[in-house]
Amino acid sequence: MKATAKAHTNIALIKYWGKRDETLILPTNNSLSVTLDGFYTTTSVEFNEQFTKDTFVLDDVSIAGEQYQRVANFLNLVRQLAGKEIYAEVKSTNAVPTAAGFASSASGFAALAAASTKAIGLKLDNTELSRLTRQGSGSACRSIFGGFAEWKKGEKDDGTDSFAVPITPKEHWDIRVAAVVLSSKMKKVSSREGMKRTVDTSPFFQGWVDSIPTDLAEIKEGIFAKDFEKVGQIAEANCLKMHATTLGAQPPFTYWLDTTVTVMQTVRALREQGIPAYFTIDAGPNVKVLYLPENEEEVQSTLRNIPGVTDVKLSRVGQGITYLEDESIV
Ligand code: ADP
Ligand code: DP6
Ligand code: CO
Repeated sequence: MKATAKAHTNIALIKYWGKRDETLILPTNNSLSVTLDGFYTTTSVEFNEQFTKDTFVLDDVSIAGEQYQRVANFLNLVRQLAGKEIYAEVKSTNAVPTAAGFASSASGFAALAAASTKAIGLKLDNTELSRLTRQGSGSACRSIFGGFAEWKKGEKDDGTDSFAVPITPKEHWDIRVAAVVLSSKMKKVSSREGMKRTVDTSPFFQGWVDSIPTDLAEIKEGIFAKDFEKVGQIAEANCLKMHATTLGAQPPFTYWLDTTVTVMQTVRALREQGIPAYFTIDAGPNVKVLYLPENEEEVQSTLRNIPGVTDVKLSRVGQGITYLEDESIV
């Protein structure tokens, strides 16, 4: 009863920001992302009758507290679905900074969902897996798929119609993403807490929700047509709208550092020089820059030269979950 799975993170171009149900993790809006091959999690799960509780080791460190509880809660759902009362040992490796706005919860819970359901003997298709994964971390339901994926918020209260669907396969379009690392520190306000505070208190939240359907319809047109400027402009504006809602929250907060703004300005300066590049930012200070393969050298060297940038990691469009036969790699 052991299985190992690998999942990549994804970067949302239309952000998920707000829950209508915190227990089932049902979002207030559809979101759309691209899966990244450069950042991933590998997780191995073993269920064993001998175990008296779940254990969770992340990057060789035994985890307790809230991070442990999120994993144990997710395993409860898996046990419930399988109808089995059996504990698990979870070992995970993040090839992505944890809780720093690089979507470790997306690759982390997608890998956990894939490995744990396989280990316990459940045979789920990718839609069923995405629906379950959503309950670990919302953004994770999109990482089941490669390429571009959309998380359909669904209409029902029980969450059965809330899961991600593939939009285009990874081969559709070779766009690139540079992750500009400014800080790998754990963020002070988790995505979960940040979006809750925004929903509860920000007067800008409704405006955010109202603006989603148009952004979504237009970005999908752009993706199908491989219209890079269109996709980049919509993604950049959508990210700024999401971050604007946090300034209206009570107490107000922002994920940005001063260097975050410097990177944003540099990306705009690249555009003024005729290089199409656009930024997006998740719940953290670090910036992801979208660009085309022919501009890789110029974009990379410009970003590396910004004071305060500690690293620039380049990524292509990634694939969905995979199952690994060789469990020794974890
Ligand atoms: P991020 O920007 O990294 O997604 P979040 O605040 O959304 O930040 O989520 C970070 C949390 O996700 C961690 O504190 C931990 O609870 C969970 N997480 C991260 N990596 C893993 C993993 N490999 N396995 C299980 N849970 C993980
Ligand atoms: C800004 O999926 O990390 O990255 O569902 O509470 O686990 P939980 O939150 P999470 O939120 C991601 C927020 C975001 C935007 C996005 O990825 O769509
Ligand atoms: Co997250």
